[in-house]
Amino acid sequence: MIRPDRFLADLHHLRSFGASGVGRGVVRPAYSDPDVAARRWLADRMREAGLQVQVDAMGNLFGLAAGPSLLMGSHSDSQPEGGWLDGALGVIAALEIARSCAESGGPPVSVVSFQDEEGRFGVTTGSAVWSGHLSQAGADALTDHAGTPLASARAAMADMVTGPVDPAQFAGFIEMHIEQGPALDAAGEQIGVVTDIVGIRDMKITFDGRQNHAGTTPMHLRQDAFQAVSAFNTRLNDRLRNVVTPRSVWTIGHITLHPNASSIVPGRAVFSMQWRDAEKERLARMEEIIRDVAEETAAGMGVQVSFGQMLGLEPVAMNATLRRALEGAAEQIAPGAWRLMPSGALHDATNVSRLMPVAMLFVPSIGGISHAFDEDTREADLVAGLRVLDHAVRHAAGRNPQ
Ligand code: GLV
Ligand code: MN
Ligand code: MN
Repeated sequence: MIRPDRFLADLHHLRSFGASGVGRGVVRPAYSDPDVAARRWLADRMREAGLQVQVDAMGNLFGLAAGPSLLMGSHSDSQPEGGWLDGALGVIAALEIARSCAESGGPPVSVVSFQDEEGRFGVTTGSAVWSGHLSQAGADALTDHAGTPLASARAAMADMVTGPVDPAQFAGFIEMHIEQGPALDAAGEQIGVVTDIVGIRDMKITFDGRQNHAGTTPMHLRQDAFQAVSAFNTRLNDRLRNVVTPRSVWTIGHITLHPNASSIVPGRAVFSMQWRDAEKERLARMEEIIRDVAEETAAGMGVQVSFGQMLGLEPVAMNATLRRALEGAAEQIAPGAWRLMPSGALHDATNVSRLMPVAMLFVPSIGGISHAFDEDTREADLVAGLRVLDHAVRHAAGRNPQ
């Protein structure tokens, strides 16, 4: 039997690692001290549950049931300003299911907390390496915004590493997560069964202009890198309008100006350009427009543009058999209060789908808020999600989901 009290207590305990002091938020980026401390605590909980702990070179933490099993979990790293449930919910729910299955003769369930899902270094980096989407050498060469290479950051977990984990032992993967959007909360529903996960592209763009004096340089003689970013953004919003759908999104979320001083015309601007869509063709069309607009803007403003490494994941559909198991369980636990829905957020499940059948379950996010300290979900909804998982695992998903 699952124990909601134990599940909620563990979920709150995980929040204590990197607690932001603002609401229930956490600051627990991949390989930071709180992230590594949280993984050590999770490893102890896995051992207590009778699971064999293994950690691969990336720092993906597995608690393995003996023999073939169903894999469940998510990630326990956070955004630089993150909520307490993003990733953590899926890991702790998986722990409770694995624990209760072991206690009461249920199907064998293994647990995972993938590393750097939140992309301090890349895009869902830990599961990308585990699935073979990205090589270890390729990952090691990635740097965070401060210029730290992943290769040196992951040394923080070196003493925990046991070796590679063979995916062949898992029949499938189920990830529970908060929705991180407004649909379920707005409709007053409790459960979302995911149909597909959007694709993503992410790259850095650099405008190099001319650093100069902000008092003496006439406006018409400037090669201002920030003005180039600003003009690029306005043009891009206009030009994308003809190709996007209401589900397409694009974001400039990080920008560095050099030298970043009030009295200096910025000589260089480096910014992140990220876009997501459910269709691969549209992602490619958006890329063409982004590159064209950046080049046109640079030419018109007398600056140089350069493009960094492109990272990305393709859109993926969930496995029909596993999905049906979740649908059946949702109808049992939350009759009439669940829906099928796509995911606009990325998840480790995208990478894992390269290796085995995958499915995902959502619970509502209050006000649709996530990647923010005030992210939250009603306790009744957290427990309803756990019950749906439990029902699905015991009744169907444990059985050969091809
Ligand atoms: C993962 O958190 C994402 O960016 O969707
Ligand atoms: Mn997440
Ligand atoms: Mn996230």
